[in-house]
Amino acid sequence: MRILGIETSCDETAAAVVVDGREVLSSVVASQVDLHARFGGVVPEIASRAHVEVVDAVLAEAVERAGLALGEIDAVAACDGPGLAGALLVGVSAGKALALTLGVPYIGVNHMEGHLYAAFLEEPDLEPPMVVLLVSGGHTMIVSMEDHGRYRLLGQTVDDAAGEAYDKVARLLGLGYPGGPVIDRLATEGDRQAIAFPRPLLDESYDFSFSGLKTAVINHVKAHPEERTEDVAASFQEAVVDVLVTKLMRAAEEVGAPTVVIGGGVAANRRLRERVGEECERRGVRAVRPSPAMCTDNGAMIAAAGWRRFVADGPTPLTSGATPGLRLPTIG
Ligand code: KG4
Ligand code: ZN
Repeated sequence: MRILGIETSCDETAAAVVVDGREVLSSVVASQVDLHARFGGVVPEIASRAHVEVVDAVLAEAVERAGLALGEIDAVAACDGPGLAGALLVGVSAGKALALTLGVPYIGVNHMEGHLYAAFLEEPDLEPPMVVLLVSGGHTMIVSMEDHGRYRLLGQTVDDAAGEAYDKVARLLGLGYPGGPVIDRLATEGDRQAIAFPRPLLDESYDFSFSGLKTAVINHVKAHPEERTEDVAASFQEAVVDVLVTKLMRAAEEVGAPTVVIGGGVAANRRLRERVGEECERRGVRAVRPSPAMCTDNGAMIAAAGWRRFVADGPTPLTSGATPGLRLPTIG
């Protein structure tokens, strides 16, 4: 089944063609980063307008690069939440219109389920059970995936998401938007041990709190303006990664999961990938780290999750809309 996946929940207009949720035929991502950078973050109205301007071309290019004609697409999946309302509506409307025109099923896809299913795109034999760390600009959670569509939420952030903390700290350090990639790069030239930033909630539960860490960075930089930005970046990143990896591995151990998966934009982070790899190797657990382009927002992850949804639940009615606050459907 060849599914065209559409992603417009935030600041990337993306589309991809994926066969049976595993084989990527094409993946096109048009980033709006340049439009939002001077505002220091995503401006929702600008995002919606930019999606409208390029969505048709992005869809056409994804189909063309897949070497297909539009008539050879078997279903259209679009991210219908969580995300920015106006931005989501562009992808959902385009997806429904195309599905209706082609006479094929439409499938609404949860963005976080998309990030989770990115793991299946590059690992042909991957199957649950597994413990998943989902870390993006809006979410941070640890999920025990017992089976396809069966997610037990073990913990999540009580304040800022991990990506949000990266973006806010980068802004404070005058590094621009988005902050994650910049801090990731600067950190390679810094000393991770330079500053002992707090590791919030390290030994408690599976919940996260990053807002205090962000304040600690602000206070430290104010008190020590002479500190090298590289050292601040590396030390901040080490604190974030320490907390993420410690909890992820504790969860994997408690659940007895043979596989650990990471997903979402922050999963593109080099230090996080390295630490997850090391810790898994030490414990004899399989580590699945999708390639960085599949961690940040893309259409392939939506097509992959869409295929699973379709197999389990069939098509989504065309009367269903976009839900900005959509939650991952969890059990327990
Ligand atoms: O999943 P994503 O592309 O969009 C959302 O669903 O939010 O994640 C974007 C977030 C941003 O906060 C960005 O700064 C962060 O992921 N990010 C990174 C890296 N690349 C993107 N954070 C740390 N290191 C990176 N290399
Ligand atoms: Zn995302």
